[in-house]
Amino acid sequence: MKILFTEDKNNQAAIEAVAKISNKIYTQRGRRPYYHIHTFGCQMNDHDSERMAALFELMGYEKSESEEEASVILLNTCAVREHAQERVYGFLGRIKYLGAQGVILGVCGCMVQQAHVVNKIKGSYPYVDMVFGTHNYAKLPQYLLKALEGEKTIAVLEDTKTIIEGMPALRSSKVSAYVNIMEGCNNFCTYCIVHYTRGREKSRLPGDIIEEIKALIKEGTREVILLGQNVNSYGQGLSEEIDFPDLLERINNLDGLYRLRFMTSHPKDLSEKLIEAMKLEKVCPSFHLPVQSGSTKVLRAMNRKYTREDYLSKVRALKKAIPNIGLTTDIIIGFPGEEEEDVDQTISLIEEVYFDSAFTFIYSKRLGTPAANLNDNLSAQEKHQRFERMLERLNEIVIEKNKARHGEVFEVLVEEESSPGIFQGRTGQGFLVRFPGSSQDLGKLRSVKITKAKKFSLEGELCH
Ligand code: SAH
Ligand code: SF4
Ligand code: F3S
Repeated sequence: MKILFTEDKNNQAAIEAVAKISNKIYTQRGRRPYYHIHTFGCQMNDHDSERMAALFELMGYEKSESEEEASVILLNTCAVREHAQERVYGFLGRIKYLGAQGVILGVCGCMVQQAHVVNKIKGSYPYVDMVFGTHNYAKLPQYLLKALEGEKTIAVLEDTKTIIEGMPALRSSKVSAYVNIMEGCNNFCTYCIVHYTRGREKSRLPGDIIEEIKALIKEGTREVILLGQNVNSYGQGLSEEIDFPDLLERINNLDGLYRLRFMTSHPKDLSEKLIEAMKLEKVCPSFHLPVQSGSTKVLRAMNRKYTREDYLSKVRALKKAIPNIGLTTDIIIGFPGEEEEDVDQTISLIEEVYFDSAFTFIYSKRLGTPAANLNDNLSAQEKHQRFERMLERLNEIVIEKNKARHGEVFEVLVEEESSPGIFQGRTGQGFLVRFPGSSQDLGKLRSVKITKAKKFSLEGELCH
């Protein structure tokens, strides 16, 4: 079910009320109504922050890069690993003095979907004014209004069956835009907290997605990145019969769009039809396919529902269909029960696939997940050693591949001026390239020859 953002009358009234009183209150306190959002975690969170930024702007607030000058500070949090959570607690400790000066402090996002986190914030950080979860962020105006009136908010919904449509977003890039196509996850990987923090999988209606993209194209967007925890299971539960490759085809047909990307895909749902759809004109030759482990034994314990061989054969099919494809992945080391041989298998899988890059993690035990009950018999030192061993080999490959790009010519979508006179953009494979250019290049596809291929970065010059 969907509800329209503008149909929530209480929220609309709150937007107006906050706009009215904020200016007055903040002038009295010697501050301007500035908001500062600090985002942890993945692209989903980045995009949620873009939407909350738009709500602040509707309420007359201006963005501030620093916490010091802000009148509202919001931490949009991630729960996927313990380290991400510790950083949030550290941050909250550090900004306590700002709370004491009347700055409104809020914590939202995945982390507060967990009851123990909410309790800890109540107990140890009582100066936080607003705590709200991933299903509540559209109601930010109401929470902010209460905070301005001196009232605290704790609002966390376990899950909802609704999708909120029509929320504005203040996107960080004009050229390349995130578009959510689904929320939540139904996969229950045993290590993962995301399906608890984001709830069950819900797909947006194709018509709503297309309308959003059409509006973006009108404003100058040239690339869209479709977002979801598992984009290739898109369409389940919709009355209209449509799957992810169908959706790609519909978006591919939109005039004015140059490029189409998506993340994340689950290997078990990577169909032949999707591999075929990778050949569509605007779909970029780039695939993020998290493998997590190269050992079938570990994959089974993770409940990933594919074997090492399944993964490798899908990669072979992808490479066959799109020979210049850029392949990236996610890897977890140190899962309970993992042995040295399992790490060997992960390394040999890395060697076989020859990834262009990978996000690598040491397993982090998440409270309430099935894996948290497994016997985690590895010491932190052992996990680190294994991790370093895997990373060393991975980096050799990533560096070797990057250096081999010297002299190659890529088509780059120019996204921004990264420093005066230097512009940056991505190749279809997703590699970031910097080169001297001009503002005329922004939003355009340009041929760039690689003149310097360093370990992890590419520099080039425009081909004329
Ligand atoms: N839905 C996406 C993103 C999940 S979170 C996907 O399935 O790929 C991003 C990555 O974080 C995961 O792919 C995994 O590699 C890592 N991750 C998730 N839970 C973790 C945990 N408990 N410990 C360490 N890494 C984890
Ligand atoms: Fe987590 Fe697995 Fe869902 Fe990804 S697919 S969000 S790793 S449960
Ligand atoms: Fe993303 Fe972290 Fe939530 S990875 S979905 S912000 S737990």
